[in-house]
Amino acid sequence: MATEKQTIAVLGAGNIGGTLGRKWIATGHQVVFGVSDPNGKHAQSLRSDLGNKAVIDSVAYALSSNPEVVVLAVQGTVVDTIIPTYAQQLDGRVIIDVANRMGSATMNSFGTLHEYTPNAHLFRAFNTYGWVNLENPQFAQGRVSLFFCGPDGDARTKVEQLITDVGPEPVYVGGVDQVNVVDGVTQLWFALAFGQQRGQNLAFKLLE
Ligand SMILES: NC(=O)c1ccc[n+]([C@@H]2O[C@H](COP(=O)([O-])OP(=O)(O)OC[C@H]3O[C@@H](n4cnc5c(N)ncnc54)[C@H](OP(=O)(O)O)[C@@H]3O)[C@@H](O)[C@H]2O)c1
Repeated sequence: MATEKQTIAVLGAGNIGGTLGRKWIATGHQVVFGVSDPNGKHAQSLRSDLGNKAVIDSVAYALSSNPEVVVLAVQGTVVDTIIPTYAQQLDGRVIIDVANRMGSATMNSFGTLHEYTPNAHLFRAFNTYGWVNLENPQFAQGRVSLFFCGPDGDARTKVEQLITDVGPEPVYVGGVDQVNVVDGVTQLWFALAFGQQRGQNLAFKLLE
């Protein structure tokens, strides 16, 4: 079965936004990046790799492209500025929250998203590993599992396809109420990669 190609606004084009956007462009999706400086180092790096396939502009421009999916890949500290500012353009869309609010009690931005975008389909995905594991999700022991949550239905199918197109095996944890479980995977990854100094080249696989 042919996979459905999607229109995606990736807000943030750094380590993680750039990695995800590159993979989706390579698999045929239509991607517009929204950044704070469209002529900055991240934008220049993407342009030098992707040429005219890289559409990189402001957040307002990226959201005006009427994307089906919006990916929040900016620093956790700026999410609370972006969401209220663009609430109208964000509401009703499939939103994938990739940002981690490091040092906060809650790592995700679902609280702010629930408040300002009550009709959005919220997903937590791609936040659990360092970007290198998404760049290269194939280990000697097999393909990385990517644990994610969000509402079941058509939007879940879209997100699963986007995970598969990046490379990992999608593992659905459940609805939005499972967000802290997904964030627990992130905490486990940090504890092993940094706390135990195993390095970033590690990930998890579901064995059944
Ligand atoms: N790095 C990882 O491996 C990883 C993995 C999982 C999750 N995350 C999470 O993903 C988020 C991004 O991390 P990163 O490492 O990719 O960061 P990064 O390399 O520093 O990139 C951040 C991006 O956000 C953009 N940005 C910052 N403020 C903005 C604003 N006000 N409006 C629009 N765009 C803005 C920057 O724009 P410019 O290009 O103009 O500077 C840049 O493109 C963080 O929340 C992080 O916790 C990171």
